[in-house]
Amino acid sequence: MKAAFAVAAFAAIAAASPVAQTGTFLKKIRQAAPAITDADILNYALTLEHLEDTFYQEGLKNFTEAQFAAAGFDATFYANLKEVSSDETTHVAFLTAALTKAGATPVAACTYDFGVTDVMSFIATASVLEGVGVSAYLGAAADIMSAAYLTAAGSILTVESRHSSYIRASLGESPFPSPFDVPLTLDEVYTLAAPFIVSCPSSNPTLPVKAFPKLTSAPTNGNITAGSKITLLTPGSVVTAADGHSPIYAAFITVTGPVFTPATAVAGGFSLTVPTAPNGTAPISGQSYVVLTGCNTTVTDDTVAAGPAAIEVGPL
Ligand SMILES: *[C@@H]1O[C@H](CO)[C@@H](O)[C@H](O)[C@H]1NC(C)=O
Ligand SMILES: *[C@@H]1O[C@H](CO)[C@@H](O)[C@H](O)[C@H]1NC(C)=O
Ligand SMILES: *[C@@H]1O[C@H](CO)[C@@H](O)[C@H](O)[C@H]1NC(C)=O
Ligand SMILES: *[C@@H]1O[C@H](CO)[C@@H](O)[C@H](O)[C@H]1NC(C)=O
Repeated sequence: MKAAFAVAAFAAIAAASPVAQTGTFLKKIRQAAPAITDADILNYALTLEHLEDTFYQEGLKNFTEAQFAAAGFDATFYANLKEVSSDETTHVAFLTAALTKAGATPVAACTYDFGVTDVMSFIATASVLEGVGVSAYLGAAADIMSAAYLTAAGSILTVESRHSSYIRASLGESPFPSPFDVPLTLDEVYTLAAPFIVSCPSSNPTLPVKAFPKLTSAPTNGNITAGSKITLLTPGSVVTAADGHSPIYAAFITVTGPVFTPATAVAGGFSLTVPTAPNGTAPISGQSYVVLTGCNTTVTDDTVAAGPAAIEVGPL
Protein backbone atom coordinates (compact mmCIF):
# COMPACT_ATOMS: atom_id res chain seq x y z
CA MET A 1 0.00 0.00 0.00
CA LYS A 2 2.83 2.32 0.87
CA ALA A 3 4.40 1.90 -2.58
CA ALA A 4 1.05 2.28 -4.32
CA PHE A 5 0.33 5.49 -2.46
CA ALA A 6 3.77 6.89 -3.24
CA VAL A 7 3.35 6.07 -6.92
CA ALA A 8 -0.11 7.63 -7.10
CA ALA A 9 1.10 10.75 -5.30
CA PHE A 10 4.13 10.93 -7.56
CA ALA A 11 1.98 10.68 -10.69
CA ALA A 12 -0.31 13.44 -9.45
CA ILE A 13 2.58 15.72 -8.57
CA ALA A 14 4.46 14.90 -11.77
CA ALA A 15 1.51 16.13 -13.79
CA ALA A 16 1.53 19.43 -11.95
CA SER A 17 5.18 20.35 -11.39
CA PRO A 18 8.51 20.92 -13.08
CA VAL A 19 10.60 17.73 -13.39
CA ALA A 20 13.46 18.97 -11.21
CA GLN A 21 11.10 19.41 -8.27
CA THR A 22 9.38 16.01 -8.56
CA GLY A 23 12.76 14.36 -7.97
CA THR A 24 13.04 16.16 -4.64
CA PHE A 25 9.52 15.15 -3.70
CA LEU A 26 10.09 11.46 -4.45
CA LYS A 27 13.30 11.57 -2.42
CA LYS A 28 11.40 13.13 0.45
CA ILE A 29 8.79 10.35 0.38
CA ARG A 30 11.54 7.71 0.44
CA GLN A 31 13.38 9.39 3.29
CA ALA A 32 10.18 9.73 5.29
CA ALA A 33 9.86 5.99 5.85
CA PRO A 34 11.18 5.31 9.36
CA ALA A 35 10.44 2.06 11.17
CA ILE A 36 7.25 3.20 12.83
CA THR A 37 4.14 1.10 13.18
CA ASP A 38 0.58 1.96 12.23
CA ALA A 39 -0.25 1.97 15.96
CA ASP A 40 2.42 4.68 16.46
CA ILE A 41 0.86 6.74 13.68
CA LEU A 42 -2.69 6.31 15.02
CA ASN A 43 -1.49 7.30 18.50
CA TYR A 44 0.29 10.32 17.01
CA ALA A 45 -2.99 11.28 15.29
CA LEU A 46 -4.85 10.69 18.56
CA THR A 47 -2.35 12.96 20.37
CA LEU A 48 -3.32 15.78 18.01
CA GLU A 49 -7.05 15.01 18.16
CA HIS A 50 -6.98 15.13 21.97
CA LEU A 51 -5.29 18.53 21.74
CA GLU A 52 -7.91 19.88 19.31
CA ASP A 53 -10.80 18.31 21.21
CA THR A 54 -9.71 19.90 24.51
CA PHE A 55 -9.04 23.19 22.73
CA TYR A 56 -12.60 23.53 21.37
CA GLN A 57 -14.25 22.31 24.57
CA GLU A 58 -12.26 24.86 26.59
CA GLY A 59 -12.98 27.67 24.14
CA LEU A 60 -16.71 26.95 24.11
CA LYS A 61 -16.66 27.02 27.92
CA ASN A 62 -14.54 30.19 28.00
CA PHE A 63 -16.63 32.27 25.59
CA THR A 64 -20.38 32.67 25.22
CA GLU A 65 -22.33 32.98 21.98
CA ALA A 66 -22.77 36.68 22.85
CA GLN A 67 -19.00 37.15 23.16
CA PHE A 68 -18.50 35.54 19.72
CA ALA A 69 -21.20 37.86 18.32
CA ALA A 70 -19.54 40.91 19.90
CA ALA A 71 -16.28 39.90 18.17
CA GLY A 72 -18.10 39.74 14.80
CA PHE A 73 -18.84 35.98 14.61
CA ASP A 74 -22.58 35.33 14.14
CA ALA A 75 -24.91 32.61 15.40
CA THR A 76 -24.21 30.44 12.34
CA PHE A 77 -20.50 30.58 13.08
CA TYR A 78 -21.13 29.65 16.70
CA ALA A 79 -23.32 26.69 15.69
CA ASN A 80 -20.66 25.52 13.20
CA LEU A 81 -17.96 25.84 15.86
CA LYS A 82 -19.93 23.48 18.09
CA GLU A 83 -20.08 21.07 15.14
CA VAL A 84 -16.30 21.33 14.68
CA SER A 85 -15.85 20.61 18.39
CA SER A 86 -18.13 17.59 18.13
CA ASP A 87 -16.19 16.29 15.08
CA GLU A 88 -12.96 16.38 17.13
CA THR A 89 -14.62 14.49 19.99
CA THR A 90 -15.77 11.87 17.47
CA HIS A 91 -12.24 11.59 16.01
CA VAL A 92 -10.87 10.97 19.52
CA ALA A 93 -13.45 8.23 20.16
CA PHE A 94 -12.84 6.66 16.73
CA LEU A 95 -9.04 6.51 17.03
CA THR A 96 -9.23 5.34 20.64
CA ALA A 97 -11.53 2.48 19.60
CA ALA A 98 -9.36 1.57 16.58
CA LEU A 99 -6.21 1.37 18.72
CA THR A 100 -7.95 -0.65 21.41
CA LYS A 101 -9.32 -3.04 18.79
CA ALA A 102 -5.80 -3.45 17.37
CA GLY A 103 -4.48 -4.38 20.83
CA ALA A 104 -2.52 -1.13 21.32
CA THR A 105 -2.76 1.29 24.26
CA PRO A 106 -4.40 4.55 23.13
CA VAL A 107 -2.86 7.77 24.49
CA ALA A 108 -5.02 9.76 26.91
CA ALA A 109 -5.47 13.54 26.83
CA CYS A 110 -2.66 15.70 28.26
CA THR A 111 -2.74 18.99 30.16
CA TYR A 112 -2.50 21.94 27.79
CA ASP A 113 -1.82 25.66 27.81
CA PHE A 114 -3.29 27.34 24.74
CA GLY A 115 -2.51 30.89 25.82
CA VAL A 116 -5.93 32.06 24.59
CA THR A 117 -7.02 35.43 25.96
CA ASP A 118 -10.05 36.43 23.87
CA VAL A 119 -12.35 35.29 21.05
CA MET A 120 -9.98 36.54 18.35
CA SER A 121 -6.96 34.67 19.72
CA PHE A 122 -9.14 31.58 20.11
CA ILE A 123 -10.21 31.63 16.46
CA ALA A 124 -6.70 32.49 15.24
CA THR A 125 -5.31 29.51 17.17
CA ALA A 126 -8.13 27.28 15.87
CA SER A 127 -7.14 28.20 12.32
CA VAL A 128 -3.48 27.33 12.92
CA LEU A 129 -4.38 24.02 14.62
CA GLU A 130 -6.69 22.92 11.79
CA GLY A 131 -4.01 23.71 9.20
CA VAL A 132 -1.39 21.77 11.17
CA GLY A 133 -3.86 18.86 11.46
CA VAL A 134 -4.20 18.71 7.67
CA SER A 135 -0.40 18.73 7.22
CA ALA A 136 0.01 16.08 9.92
CA TYR A 137 -2.35 13.56 8.29
CA LEU A 138 -0.98 14.37 4.84
CA GLY A 139 2.63 13.89 5.95
CA ALA A 140 1.87 10.63 7.79
CA ALA A 141 -0.10 9.12 4.88
CA ALA A 142 2.95 7.72 3.08
CA ASP A 143 3.99 5.81 6.23
CA ILE A 144 0.66 4.06 6.84
CA MET A 145 0.91 0.36 5.93
CA SER A 146 -2.75 -0.70 6.23
CA ALA A 147 -5.12 0.29 3.43
CA ALA A 148 -8.02 0.46 5.87
CA TYR A 149 -6.16 2.83 8.19
CA LEU A 150 -5.07 4.97 5.25
CA THR A 151 -8.70 5.39 4.15
CA ALA A 152 -9.77 6.14 7.73
CA ALA A 153 -6.99 8.72 8.13
CA GLY A 154 -7.96 10.24 4.77
CA SER A 155 -11.56 10.55 5.85
CA ILE A 156 -10.42 12.56 8.89
CA LEU A 157 -7.94 14.64 6.85
CA THR A 158 -10.64 15.88 4.46
CA VAL A 159 -12.85 16.95 7.37
CA GLU A 160 -9.97 18.80 9.08
CA SER A 161 -9.44 20.53 5.75
CA ARG A 162 -13.12 21.65 5.65
CA HIS A 163 -12.75 23.00 9.19
CA SER A 164 -9.61 24.86 8.12
CA SER A 165 -11.28 26.39 5.05
CA TYR A 166 -14.35 27.47 6.99
CA ILE A 167 -12.37 29.13 9.77
CA ARG A 168 -10.00 30.79 7.29
CA ALA A 169 -12.95 32.21 5.34
CA SER A 170 -14.50 33.45 8.59
CA LEU A 171 -11.24 35.32 9.29
CA GLY A 172 -11.40 36.97 5.84
CA GLU A 173 -8.59 34.76 4.48
CA SER A 174 -8.68 32.66 1.33
CA PRO A 175 -10.30 29.31 2.18
CA PHE A 176 -7.92 27.54 -0.25
CA PRO A 177 -4.86 29.77 -0.64
CA SER A 178 -2.69 27.22 -2.45
CA PRO A 179 -3.23 24.42 -5.02
CA PHE A 180 -1.28 22.07 -2.71
CA ASP A 181 -1.29 21.44 1.03
CA VAL A 182 2.02 20.94 2.85
CA PRO A 183 2.97 17.48 4.17
CA LEU A 184 4.88 17.71 7.47
CA THR A 185 6.91 14.98 9.20
CA LEU A 186 5.90 13.64 12.62
CA ASP A 187 8.75 15.58 14.26
CA GLU A 188 7.80 18.81 12.47
CA VAL A 189 4.19 18.50 13.60
CA TYR A 190 5.20 17.62 17.13
CA THR A 191 7.40 20.74 17.21
CA LEU A 192 4.31 22.85 16.44
CA ALA A 193 2.14 21.00 19.01
CA ALA A 194 4.69 20.76 21.84
CA PRO A 195 4.41 24.40 23.04
CA PHE A 196 0.71 23.74 23.87
CA ILE A 197 1.43 20.56 25.87
CA VAL A 198 2.21 21.08 29.58
CA SER A 199 2.36 17.43 30.67
CA CYS A 200 0.95 14.03 29.70
CA PRO A 201 -0.11 11.05 31.83
CA SER A 202 2.90 8.82 32.56
CA SER A 203 0.75 5.85 31.47
CA ASN A 204 0.72 7.17 27.88
CA PRO A 205 2.82 5.06 25.50
CA THR A 206 6.00 6.87 24.40
CA LEU A 207 5.81 7.84 20.73
CA PRO A 208 8.84 7.94 18.42
CA VAL A 209 8.61 11.71 17.93
CA LYS A 210 10.76 14.61 19.07
CA ALA A 211 10.38 18.38 19.01
CA PHE A 212 12.98 20.58 17.32
CA PRO A 213 13.90 23.90 18.98
CA LYS A 214 10.94 26.29 18.95
CA LEU A 215 10.74 28.86 16.15
CA THR A 216 8.23 31.72 16.09
CA SER A 217 7.57 34.64 13.82
CA ALA A 218 8.16 38.07 15.40
CA PRO A 219 5.08 40.34 15.27
CA THR A 220 4.81 42.26 11.99
CA ASN A 221 3.15 45.58 11.20
CA GLY A 222 1.00 44.31 8.36
CA ASN A 223 0.21 41.01 6.65
CA ILE A 224 3.12 38.90 5.43
CA THR A 225 3.32 38.36 1.66
CA ALA A 226 5.95 37.05 -0.76
CA GLY A 227 8.85 39.52 -0.58
CA SER A 228 8.15 40.55 3.05
CA LYS A 229 11.19 40.77 5.31
CA ILE A 230 10.43 38.84 8.51
CA THR A 231 12.25 37.85 11.69
CA LEU A 232 12.09 34.34 13.11
CA LEU A 233 12.78 34.10 16.83
CA THR A 234 14.42 31.14 18.57
CA PRO A 235 13.19 31.70 22.15
CA GLY A 236 15.17 29.90 24.80
CA SER A 237 17.73 28.33 22.50
CA VAL A 238 20.87 29.12 20.55
CA VAL A 239 20.25 27.47 17.23
CA THR A 240 23.09 25.79 15.37
CA ALA A 241 22.92 23.36 12.47
CA ALA A 242 24.13 19.75 12.54
CA ASP A 243 27.61 20.86 11.42
CA GLY A 244 27.88 23.20 14.42
CA HIS A 245 27.49 26.37 12.36
CA SER A 246 24.59 28.79 12.63
CA PRO A 247 21.74 28.11 10.22
CA ILE A 248 22.24 30.16 7.12
CA TYR A 249 19.10 29.14 5.33
CA ALA A 250 15.42 29.25 5.98
CA ALA A 251 13.52 26.52 4.12
CA PHE A 252 9.82 26.83 3.34
CA ILE A 253 8.41 23.31 3.15
CA THR A 254 6.21 22.54 0.12
CA VAL A 255 4.96 19.31 -1.44
CA THR A 256 7.31 19.79 -4.40
CA GLY A 257 10.32 20.29 -2.15
CA PRO A 258 11.76 23.02 0.06
CA VAL A 259 12.13 26.62 -1.10
CA PHE A 260 15.37 27.97 0.39
CA THR A 261 16.21 31.56 1.24
CA PRO A 262 19.24 32.95 3.09
CA ALA A 263 18.73 33.66 6.81
CA THR A 264 20.81 36.34 8.54
CA ALA A 265 21.49 36.15 12.28
CA VAL A 266 19.91 39.05 14.24
CA ALA A 267 19.30 39.54 17.98
CA GLY A 268 17.16 36.62 19.20
CA GLY A 269 16.85 34.92 15.84
CA PHE A 270 17.23 35.20 12.09
CA SER A 271 15.98 37.61 9.45
CA LEU A 272 14.87 36.53 5.97
CA THR A 273 12.76 37.51 2.99
CA VAL A 274 9.72 35.39 2.08
CA PRO A 275 10.63 33.97 -1.36
CA THR A 276 9.28 35.33 -4.62
CA ALA A 277 9.76 33.64 -7.98
CA PRO A 278 11.86 35.57 -10.55
CA ASN A 279 8.64 36.33 -12.48
CA GLY A 280 7.13 37.98 -9.39
CA THR A 281 4.70 35.16 -8.50
CA ALA A 282 4.40 33.84 -4.94
CA PRO A 283 5.70 30.25 -4.54
CA ILE A 284 4.52 30.23 -0.89
CA SER A 285 0.97 31.12 0.14
CA GLY A 286 -1.49 30.46 2.96
CA GLN A 287 -0.47 28.76 6.19
CA SER A 288 3.19 28.04 5.48
CA TYR A 289 5.93 26.28 7.39
CA VAL A 290 9.52 27.43 7.59
CA VAL A 291 12.51 25.77 9.27
CA LEU A 292 16.08 26.93 9.88
CA THR A 293 18.81 24.73 8.49
CA GLY A 294 22.49 24.70 7.58
CA CYS A 295 21.82 22.71 4.42
CA ASN A 296 20.49 24.24 1.21
CA THR A 297 19.74 21.09 -0.79
CA THR A 298 17.27 19.06 1.27
CA VAL A 299 15.16 19.20 4.45
CA THR A 300 15.08 16.04 6.56
CA ASP A 301 14.68 15.43 10.29
CA ASP A 302 18.50 15.25 10.38
CA THR A 303 19.04 18.72 8.90
CA VAL A 304 16.37 20.81 10.68
CA ALA A 305 18.01 23.12 13.24
CA ALA A 306 14.79 24.79 14.50
CA GLY A 307 11.14 24.99 13.66
CA PRO A 308 8.95 24.83 11.78
CA ALA A 309 7.27 28.13 12.49
CA ALA A 310 3.76 28.44 11.04
CA ILE A 311 3.41 31.68 9.07
CA GLU A 312 0.39 33.03 7.22
CA VAL A 313 1.52 34.31 3.82
CA GLY A 314 -1.23 36.45 2.29
CA PRO A 315 -1.93 37.24 -1.37
CA LEU A 316 0.38 39.67 -3.21
C1 LIG B 1 -9.64 29.28 28.40
O1 LIG B 1 -9.40 30.21 29.41
C2 LIG B 1 -8.23 29.98 30.20
C3 LIG B 1 -8.20 31.02 31.32
O2 LIG B 1 -8.21 32.30 30.79
C4 LIG B 1 -7.01 30.10 29.28
O3 LIG B 1 -5.83 29.85 30.00
C5 LIG B 1 -7.13 29.08 28.16
O4 LIG B 1 -6.05 29.23 27.25
C6 LIG B 1 -8.45 29.30 27.43
N1 LIG B 1 -8.55 28.21 26.44
C7 LIG B 1 -9.22 28.36 25.30
C8 LIG B 1 -9.09 27.23 24.33
O5 LIG B 1 -9.89 29.34 25.04
C1 LIG C 1 -4.68 41.26 6.14
O1 LIG C 1 -5.33 40.05 5.80
C2 LIG C 1 -6.69 39.96 6.19
C3 LIG C 1 -7.17 38.59 5.85
O2 LIG C 1 -6.78 38.21 4.57
C4 LIG C 1 -7.48 41.06 5.49
O3 LIG C 1 -8.83 41.01 5.93
C5 LIG C 1 -6.89 42.41 5.81
O4 LIG C 1 -7.54 43.41 5.07
C6 LIG C 1 -5.39 42.42 5.47
N1 LIG C 1 -4.80 43.67 5.93
C7 LIG C 1 -4.06 44.44 5.14
C8 LIG C 1 -3.49 45.66 5.78
O5 LIG C 1 -3.84 44.15 3.97
C1 LIG D 1 6.83 31.73 -12.29
O1 LIG D 1 8.03 31.06 -11.90
C2 LIG D 1 7.82 29.88 -11.15
C3 LIG D 1 9.15 29.34 -10.66
O2 LIG D 1 10.23 29.88 -11.33
C4 LIG D 1 7.09 28.88 -12.02
O3 LIG D 1 6.84 27.70 -11.30
C5 LIG D 1 5.76 29.47 -12.45
O4 LIG D 1 5.10 28.60 -13.34
C6 LIG D 1 5.95 30.83 -13.15
N1 LIG D 1 4.64 31.42 -13.36
C7 LIG D 1 4.31 32.10 -14.44
C8 LIG D 1 2.93 32.67 -14.48
O5 LIG D 1 5.11 32.25 -15.36
C1 LIG E 1 24.13 26.30 -1.42
O1 LIG E 1 25.30 26.21 -0.65
C2 LIG E 1 26.50 26.13 -1.42
C3 LIG E 1 27.66 26.05 -0.46
O2 LIG E 1 27.39 25.21 0.61
C4 LIG E 1 26.61 27.38 -2.31
O3 LIG E 1 27.74 27.25 -3.14
C5 LIG E 1 25.36 27.52 -3.17
O4 LIG E 1 25.42 28.75 -3.88
C6 LIG E 1 24.12 27.52 -2.30
N1 LIG E 1 22.94 27.54 -3.16
C7 LIG E 1 21.92 28.37 -2.92
C8 LIG E 1 20.73 28.23 -3.85
O5 LIG E 1 21.89 29.17 -2.02
